[in-house]
Amino acid sequence: MLAAPAAARTSSTCWPDIHGVPVPAYDEAEHAVWRALIGRQRALWPGRACDEYLQALADTGLVCERIPRLADISDRISSHTGWQLVRVDGIVPDDEFFAMLAARRFPSTDFIRDAADLDYTPAPDIFHDLVGHAPLLTHPRFAAFFQRFGEAGVRAHKLELPARHALARLYWYTVEFGLICTGEGLRIYGAGILSSHQEVGYSLSAATHKHAFDPDLIARTDYDVWHLQDELFVIDSFDALEAGFARWTEQAGLSG
Ligand SMILES: [Fe+2]
Repeated sequence: MLAAPAAARTSSTCWPDIHGVPVPAYDEAEHAVWRALIGRQRALWPGRACDEYLQALADTGLVCERIPRLADISDRISSHTGWQLVRVDGIVPDDEFFAMLAARRFPSTDFIRDAADLDYTPAPDIFHDLVGHAPLLTHPRFAAFFQRFGEAGVRAHKLELPARHALARLYWYTVEFGLICTGEGLRIYGAGILSSHQEVGYSLSAATHKHAFDPDLIARTDYDVWHLQDELFVIDSFDALEAGFARWTEQAGLSG
């Protein structure tokens, strides 16, 4: 599991073309960390990750043996929905983060965790950002929801509305830790689960409390970034996620 709105600082709403960003000189130990992470996650995803994610994972070419270039993944995403990746150093301030989402830009780190931190890293790394977040950026409905999320965040911060505090919870319980109900049973779409070895199995187990997607309830539900997640929310579809969030933003005064 990982922290919510994530990635580093840029100073304006004009972000650099990721193609101009140098690719880190990853050493073999870093590629081995990527290989270990992707190897054990891919063994868990069948029957647990949602079909939309698995298809998107194949489309973006992220099941690979070496750390991919952000620019290559960004181009593949962009060809589907226009979303692009922006390389950042770490956590981005909320107002910048929301402005990026509103412009269909997702901030991604390009460094990878240490081998000693395979199971948990409190800050995002390239494995979480790419394998967790990037695939669903190719999905039209999720892409539209995520852009709307950014637009709501921009408005909430600009007007300093109380509802901006609820957005972190909505992000956590959807983008990071969301489950989806399918004809084959519950599946995972949240990046924080999909990129975590422990959360994949735990999230679908009887140990967690699974609630129907309810933005008002989510807005009142705190979360703990340091432990496995016990409270989870289930959407019926990505259409329902988009529509439910749109209704909530209207009620909260966050729609444009
Ligand atoms: Fe994340």
